[in-house]
Amino acid sequence: MTLTPARITRREDGTPFAPDYDDVYHSSDGGPAQAREVFLAGNQLPARWAGRAVFTVFETGFGLGLNFLVTLNTWRNDTSHCERLHYIAIEKHPLTRTDLATCHAAWPELAEEAAAQQAQWPLPLPGHHRLHFFGGAVTLTLVFGDIADVWPQLDMPFDACYLDGFAPARNPDMWQPALLRQCGRLAAPGATLATYTTAAAVRHALTAAGFNVQRLPGYGRKRHRLTAVFNPPAWQSAHAIPVTPKTDARQALIIGAGLAGAAVAERLASRGWQITVIDALPAAAGGASGIRAGLLHPHLSPDDALLSRLIRHGFLYALATWKRLSDAGHPLSGRCDGMAHVAQNQLNEAGMASTAARLGLPGEYAQFMDRSALSASCGLSLTAGGYWYPQAGWMAPATLIEALLKQSGANRLFNCRVDRLEQHAGQWQAINADGAVIAQAAVAILANSHDAARLSPFAYPLQRVRGQLTYLPGSALPGLRHAVAGPAYAVKTADDMLVIGSTYSEEDESSQVSAADHAANLAMMGKLFPDHQNIVTAPLSGFTGFRAATADHLPLIGALPDLDAIRSLGLELAGQAVDNMPRRPGIYGALGYGSRGLLWAAMGGELLASLIHGEPLPVEAPLAAAMDPARGALRRMRQGELP
Ligand SMILES: Cc1cc2nc3c(=O)[nH]c(=O)nc-3n(C[C@H](O)[C@H](O)[C@H](O)COP(=O)(O)OP(=O)(O)OC[C@H]3O[C@@H](n4cnc5c(N)ncnc54)[C@H](O)[C@@H]3O)c2cc1C
Ligand SMILES: C[S@@+](CC[C@H](N)C(=O)[O-])C[C@H]1O[C@@H](n2cnc3c(N)ncnc32)[C@H](O)[C@@H]1O
Repeated sequence: MTLTPARITRREDGTPFAPDYDDVYHSSDGGPAQAREVFLAGNQLPARWAGRAVFTVFETGFGLGLNFLVTLNTWRNDTSHCERLHYIAIEKHPLTRTDLATCHAAWPELAEEAAAQQAQWPLPLPGHHRLHFFGGAVTLTLVFGDIADVWPQLDMPFDACYLDGFAPARNPDMWQPALLRQCGRLAAPGATLATYTTAAAVRHALTAAGFNVQRLPGYGRKRHRLTAVFNPPAWQSAHAIPVTPKTDARQALIIGAGLAGAAVAERLASRGWQITVIDALPAAAGGASGIRAGLLHPHLSPDDALLSRLIRHGFLYALATWKRLSDAGHPLSGRCDGMAHVAQNQLNEAGMASTAARLGLPGEYAQFMDRSALSASCGLSLTAGGYWYPQAGWMAPATLIEALLKQSGANRLFNCRVDRLEQHAGQWQAINADGAVIAQAAVAILANSHDAARLSPFAYPLQRVRGQLTYLPGSALPGLRHAVAGPAYAVKTADDMLVIGSTYSEEDESSQVSAADHAANLAMMGKLFPDHQNIVTAPLSGFTGFRAATADHLPLIGALPDLDAIRSLGLELAGQAVDNMPRRPGIYGALGYGSRGLLWAAMGGELLASLIHGEPLPVEAPLAAAMDPARGALRRMRQGELP
């Protein structure tokens, strides 16, 4: 899974050059001008995005990001630009941030855009990386990986396409006719495409994919360039990607003011939605999100399994979200400047070492350390070695939830328990036990954890898993500098409180803090820190909460299924993919965050908001499908268990 960073040299005239491909990154006759003439004008931009709510540009070969910077600059200076611009780009060899800055320095006219891109430049990790610009109006989704692997997995229709691999003779992998068919699969009706090459094989492949291809005078020394308009023959259907039915009424009600609900509120509000958040309790963060501090960290597996990939996305997107909120002036209490994940035993430690070696991840993301190095990093002697995650750490969820709700400007209706939901004339009404309407909106989002299935069943049981935290004075573990996880976790908070967690019990329904669970937490802590086996300090206090866990450890994020329709269609649906399951209109879930609420919340918010607003999703289609709330209904129907 290692990505090889780009190797960049310079031509005599200063043009960035890739020795591994024996080609330049842009025309020697001027990069920004080439981008404007070949790629933007070739797609009739900016004219074609005028007045559009959402417009999507897709690019093969992100390289220096020059085409992106020029597009961003054009959008910023265009008074009739689309409301939201999505730019999706594939890249196999990401540049280092230093190389990026050196290359960008050649274009002072793009300095502002370049600084914004460099500030958010992701680690060279495979998968999707979503970056936001200009308050979120422009979104860049960078897809790091080989085009042959990642393009067929994209499910994002484009309005304009920039084909910008190195020259077909030097970089044939980017121009395979079979691969170029993806252009036809993903083109939205009326989509256009542009490229600097006029190679016959490319023209033929695009024509076969349903494009009317035209040769125009080229830029600089090049004789010709291509533009193309998607105009498939009648027998060739336009893209069959399911598009979520959209509503123009940008009003939503969200039930649940925990991590899940607050994050959806913030993401929808960033798209101009008016939000009402309803909670049964008198204040936000009163459910499981009431933990004083929780951990946020990656997950590694030798085969980079789906769960690890999703967690990678959730982790990076959460970090970026927290930084964005903090930069906007919201006071967050948390620290993500390094965290240790201690092995449970020798076998586990050896497995961790071999996984780290096998994955070859960037050290800024995760690295294996032996016991003494890991102990030195944390400031306390640990029982074993394990992973060191330099960007991981902890967060106080209540401060994050407050920041998200404040940023969203949501109307907060607390002390209001939703007894049932009814849909009348396209509006979802949240109704209390007295039959009074608490609030109504075209879209309803269930972020109310265990109580959600009662309001709209989805045939995937959420396990109720009790957990208890123990709060000690910080002096109980003197010297601890960073959060530590393993058989237990230990976090020192900003107010010098030590949070020790946590028990995990499916049987216990008690919401009272128990002495037995405090003892269990302290005993587990002894397994992390050999010099602190017998903590005598009496716990100051504690917390109990109930996680909503799923059997496959993945959250439920998306449109909720229509179980009646699924029942009546029965086996007709059995062979279908999960995204073809019938849905109840306008009702969505952000549920089942289990032990990873801090990790799923930001990504879940962005995924749901993208889905509801009809935009490209932030994650690969198979990852979105893995979190689909209809997956339980599909499985049970296939097993004949959905009567
Ligand atoms: C002991 C413990 C330790 C944990 N440690 C970590 C950790 O280290 N890292 C991490 O990422 N996660 C951790 N978690 C998990 C994390 O706390 C949860 O995943 C997260 O808080 C779930 O957020 P939520 O918004 O889905 O649910 P909640 O925070 O429970 O919010 C649901 C809200 O819905 C409201 N509600 C329910 N029904 C209704 C209704 N009918 N009408 C109106 N309102 C309603 C509730 O009042 C509640 O406020 C831990 C959990 C526990 C219990
Ligand atoms: C001409 S450069 C792109 C320049 C870029 N569009 C810009 O505006 O700066 C071609 C890019 O394609 C990338 N590339 C080459 N082979 C690839 C592959 N198989 N999959 C994905 N990207 C690839 C290269 O790393 C390089 O960054």
